[in-house]
Amino acid sequence: MPPGQTIKPDTDPRPRVLITGGAGFIGSHLLDLLAPSGAQITVVDDLSTGRVENIAHHQPRIRFIGSRLDRALEQLEDEPPFDRVYHLAAAVGVDLILADPIGSIETNVEQTSALLRYVNAHGNPPTLIASSSEVYGKPGASVFSEDDDTLYGPSTTGRWSYAHCKAIDEHLALAYHDKRGLPAVVCRFFNTVGPRQSGQYGMVLPRFVQAALNDAPIRVFGDGEQTRCFCDVRDVVAVLPTLLESSEAHGRVFNIGSDRPISIGQLAGLVVRELSSESPIVKTPYADAYPQGFEDLRHRRPDLSRVRSVCGFEPSYTLSRTIADIAEEIRSSGIHAGGKR
Ligand SMILES: NC(=O)c1ccc[n+]([C@@H]2O[C@H](COP(=O)([O-])OP(=O)(O)OC[C@H]3O[C@@H](n4cnc5c(N)ncnc54)[C@H](O)[C@@H]3O)[C@@H](O)[C@H]2O)c1
Repeated sequence: MPPGQTIKPDTDPRPRVLITGGAGFIGSHLLDLLAPSGAQITVVDDLSTGRVENIAHHQPRIRFIGSRLDRALEQLEDEPPFDRVYHLAAAVGVDLILADPIGSIETNVEQTSALLRYVNAHGNPPTLIASSSEVYGKPGASVFSEDDDTLYGPSTTGRWSYAHCKAIDEHLALAYHDKRGLPAVVCRFFNTVGPRQSGQYGMVLPRFVQAALNDAPIRVFGDGEQTRCFCDVRDVVAVLPTLLESSEAHGRVFNIGSDRPISIGQLAGLVVRELSSESPIVKTPYADAYPQGFEDLRHRRPDLSRVRSVCGFEPSYTLSRTIADIAEEIRSSGIHAGGKR
């Protein structure tokens, strides 16, 4: 805070919580979880990929600042400090990263840097930084543990920029913890799925469900044998406050996700069966899907022993339930008839 500036007194005794990216997919589910606690919640989201509909059911009980994070932080400069901060705002999704590399890189580095500077200058509250399994890059192993080495492709392959940016975010958060005492927790989310996730930016499950509801072809890239572990967003957000409250978690990195793999081909089959769809499953070469080039990983599974030991994390939603809930959401909003989210 600039010298000489005074902070407005906080007359409201309720804890102050900031969720950046709170109108997005994961952020809005976190808001659903935290809102009933009665905290004073501020959501900052520039709606670049988030949707105001995701949080409309909480207004006017929450404060929504619809602007870019660094500008919102200037607006919050003379307010009392937050008690808890969840930083989820980012440029997310393969298609978005490839379509707008400059904007994505700048967002993913500069906005996190601005947020960390802000919280450090405003009381050092426990702060959760959303990272990604992409940070592991393409190591030989298929099970990823938090302290594993990472291996990235060359900077001439645009896809790797997201991993580099998220790794820089992690370094910065951990440096603020080590050098400035910020109780920061880094969460590496693996494939997170559920209602409100947009298929527009290349996310696989909403794309599959949308196609299945239209009986349209489901495009599986490559041979479909690549595996991923999908975790329902409601299981993911449930563990975040527990981690943030735990001093054992501060200054550490956690894998968050499911450790049950499924191949992308099997996932397409499951979607077709669960939704009684007539969709054909069509294998599409990567070169057709990503003419500008794309390196996919064969397998990706988190080692969850750390998060289990700190807070007993165990995902409870089945993939069948998640698929049914995504389909229900799409049906009820009428967007399966060809509309875009
Ligand atoms: N969904 C996943 O499977 C997954 C996997 C790994 C990591 N993550 C991480 O989790 C976090 C949330 O991702 P998500 O899946 O909910 O994506 P999302 O795109 O739905 O959410 C990101 C939100 O941030 C907002 N935003 C982007 N730039 C902003 C800026 N400069 N200022 C303010 N708001 C901004 C967007 O409008 C959006 O609402 C991200 O940090 C992402 O990197 C997600």
